Amino acid sequence: MALITLRQLLDHAGEHTYGMPAFNITNLETLQAVVEAADRTNSPVLLQASSTARKYMGDAFLRHMFEAAVEQYPHLPICLHLDHGNELATCMSAMDMGFTSVMMDGSLLADAKTPSDYAYNVSETASVVEVAHARGISVEGELGVLGSLETGMGEKEDGHGFEGMLARNQLLTDPDEAAQFVAETGVDALAVACGTSHGAYKFSRRPNGDILAMDTIEAIHAKLPNTHLVMHGASTVPQYLQDLINENGGEMAQTFGVPLEEVERGIKSGVRKINIDTDIRMAMTGSMREFLSNNRSSFDTRGALKPGRERTIELCIERNERFGCAGQADKIKPLSLELMADRYAAGVMNHRAA
Ligand code: G3H
Ligand code: 13P
Ligand code: ZN
Repeated sequence: MALITLRQLLDHAGEHTYGMPAFNITNLETLQAVVEAADRTNSPVLLQASSTARKYMGDAFLRHMFEAAVEQYPHLPICLHLDHGNELATCMSAMDMGFTSVMMDGSLLADAKTPSDYAYNVSETASVVEVAHARGISVEGELGVLGSLETGMGEKEDGHGFEGMLARNQLLTDPDEAAQFVAETGVDALAVACGTSHGAYKFSRRPNGDILAMDTIEAIHAKLPNTHLVMHGASTVPQYLQDLINENGGEMAQTFGVPLEEVERGIKSGVRKINIDTDIRMAMTGSMREFLSNNRSSFDTRGALKPGRERTIELCIERNERFGCAGQADKIKPLSLELMADRYAAGVMNHRAA
C-alpha cells in the first residue's frame, strides 16, 4: 500500500518548492488517466473526490477503484482527499472509507452555499482537525469565499458555492485572519480566496492582478511561510479544449481560466495544492463530442471514452511537469497513519505564523 497523507506530500512539496495538482476524479476513466500520467512522469498522486462525485459513483465503487489504483501502481505515493467536505459527518464518512485527507470547507455553511462567519468556520474546522489528526489524517480548511473579483458574484455551480453578490473583502482572504485561522484550527493546508472560482467561466479576459489577486497569496505566504496554500478553481480552461468542444457541436461562450504561469508564480509563494476539475471535464467532453460527431453511426461507449482518457493523460502530464512534481514520486516514502497520528499528538506538526 502506497497511500500517503496530504500533509506528508505537501511537506515534501514545500521542502522542494513544487506544487501538487489535485485532480478531481469523477469516473473510472478520469481516475485511470490521472494515475497513468503520474506513472509516466514519476509523480506522486493527489486524487480528490467531491461529495457529488461520491454520490455519482457510490462510495463502495469509489473505494474499490481507489484500491485498484493503489494495487496497479504500488510504487506511487497516492493521497486520497475529500474535496469540499461540508460538515463533520461528511468528513467522518470519508475517513471511514479510507481517505487519507479531508477538506472541511467551513467558509460555507453545511448547505454548501451560504457564506458562514469566522467563528463558525473555526469551530467546524477545528472539530474535524481533532478527529482527523487523532487518526493521522490530514485536513485542509478554507478561509474566504470563492467568487469573481470581476463581477463580485459568488460562484454557484453544480449545487456548490454561493449564488449572489459578495463584498470584495469576502472574496479575498485576509492575511492576518489567515494566520489566526491556522493557529486556531491546526489545519495542514489552507485554501484561500484570490479571485478564482470553480467551473469554466472564471474570467471574461486573460486575468491580470485586478481580477486574479496573486498578491493576496504572496501576502498570506509572508505571514504563514510554513503553511501549505491551496488554490481552488485553478483550471486553465485551455483555448484548444474550448475550440474542440465548439467545433463539435458545443456552445461554450468564450472564457478564460488561470494561466499556468500564474500557478507557477503561486508555487513560488507557498501554493502547494492546485485543484483541477474543469480542465479534465473539458478534455473528456470535447473528446467525446469529437468521436461521436466523426462516428455518427457508432454506439461504441468505449470508443467514445478512450480519446478523452488519452487527452486527460496528456493534460495531467503537462501539469505534473509544469508544477514540478514530475520526478518526485520515488523520492517519497509514505509514513503510516499511526506514525502521523503520533506526530500530531507530540505537537511537532503545528504551523506557525511568521
Ligand atoms: O468543488 C468543485 C469541484 O469542481 C467539484 O465539483 O461537486 O460537481 O464534483 P462537483
Ligand atoms: P476548477 O473548476 O477550476 O477545475 O476547480 C476545481 C476545484 O477547485 C475543486 O475543488
Ligand atoms: Zn474547490
